[in-house]
Amino acid sequence: MMLGVWTAQTPQYQSQGDEGADCVSELTRLPGLADVHVHLRVPGGEHKEDVRSGTAAALAGGFTTILAMPNTHPPLVTLARLQAAQLQAQRESLCDVAYYAGASANHVDELPALGSCAVALKIYMDQTYGPLRIEGLATLLACFRAWPKDKPIAIHAEGPSIAVGIGLAAAFGRSVHFCHVSRRSEITLIAHAKHQGLAVTCEVTPHHLFLTEADLPRLGTLGDMRPTLAQQADVDALWSHIDTTVDCVATDHAPHTLVEKSSTASPPGVPGLETAVPLMLTAVVEGRLSMDRLVELMAANPRRIFGLPNQPHTWIEVDVGDTFVISQEGLHTKCGWSPFTGMRVRGRVHTVCLRGETVVRDGAVIPTARTGSVC
Ligand code: DOR
Ligand code: ZN
Ligand code: ZN
Repeated sequence: MMLGVWTAQTPQYQSQGDEGADCVSELTRLPGLADVHVHLRVPGGEHKEDVRSGTAAALAGGFTTILAMPNTHPPLVTLARLQAAQLQAQRESLCDVAYYAGASANHVDELPALGSCAVALKIYMDQTYGPLRIEGLATLLACFRAWPKDKPIAIHAEGPSIAVGIGLAAAFGRSVHFCHVSRRSEITLIAHAKHQGLAVTCEVTPHHLFLTEADLPRLGTLGDMRPTLAQQADVDALWSHIDTTVDCVATDHAPHTLVEKSSTASPPGVPGLETAVPLMLTAVVEGRLSMDRLVELMAANPRRIFGLPNQPHTWIEVDVGDTFVISQEGLHTKCGWSPFTGMRVRGRVHTVCLRGETVVRDGAVIPTARTGSVC
């Protein structure tokens, strides 16, 4: 077995050990990853995912920190609700969790208080799952005025809404993070804004990097999410900006049960925590991005943009020699399915160590682990 070690100082990851051994596995050590876009479904959606199952899925996927979204039932738009969710995560989480506060027209007055407890503000500008949506420029302005300037604002914006978000970043002289950018026009616009010196950042999801609308006949509603799957030209554009404009790869892990997904009112959203690393490692093996860039997109940039605390003695080991077909067997997410089932990938999360404690060994989450905290 070989052991590769990634370090911040070395531009390339290195392999160490008994190179001549029969075993094809090749372990590479990376920092604990951070996913800035996860739907934990607590409160109100515990049949889809709860803190324990969601954070187990995160660890199994190589993420030692996740940022939880506020479009729960009820949504996290008041200090009382946010603190209740944080308290529950403090008791039940297996990895570190930070919470977004949600923007709501009826609770703008809560934003200053929420600002001191949440990691960032989430503004939904376009229609998606759950009740949260900010309509109208006046409310958007009120949210931008009320939210502490030193805390990030993340926006679910699609198409022209991204231009509005860029305008707000410019007008208020503050940073704005765009969630799940999926279209060529969107990533092009964000590239232009960055070239103008605006402090905008963005994430892309593995499903928008690895699937297109051509997969929809096969996937049916299991391929439905917001933003929807796009065309090959859009996917190509995201990849062409992966070393430049894209700041983070985030999963938008949005679990719904198979029963819900096959109902007539199928909710949008797909799980992603346990498939992101194998997919991105496959891209590394295929030469579409470097291992260093993967670490920037999935660890360093998320931590910098959202001011996440360091996790000492925390690392993961991935096996880039392990080729397998994604299956729903053994998934930790409560929803128990993946839109990537059947895809052949290269690279598996082997070990996760959080603050000196091994919490994933040989791909399995150690059941007694209780090592997460709320940041
Ligand atoms: O497809 C999606 N599902 N997009 C979102 O923005 C929300 C998410 C969910 O919460 O299910
Ligand atoms: Zn969204
Ligand atoms: Zn989301």
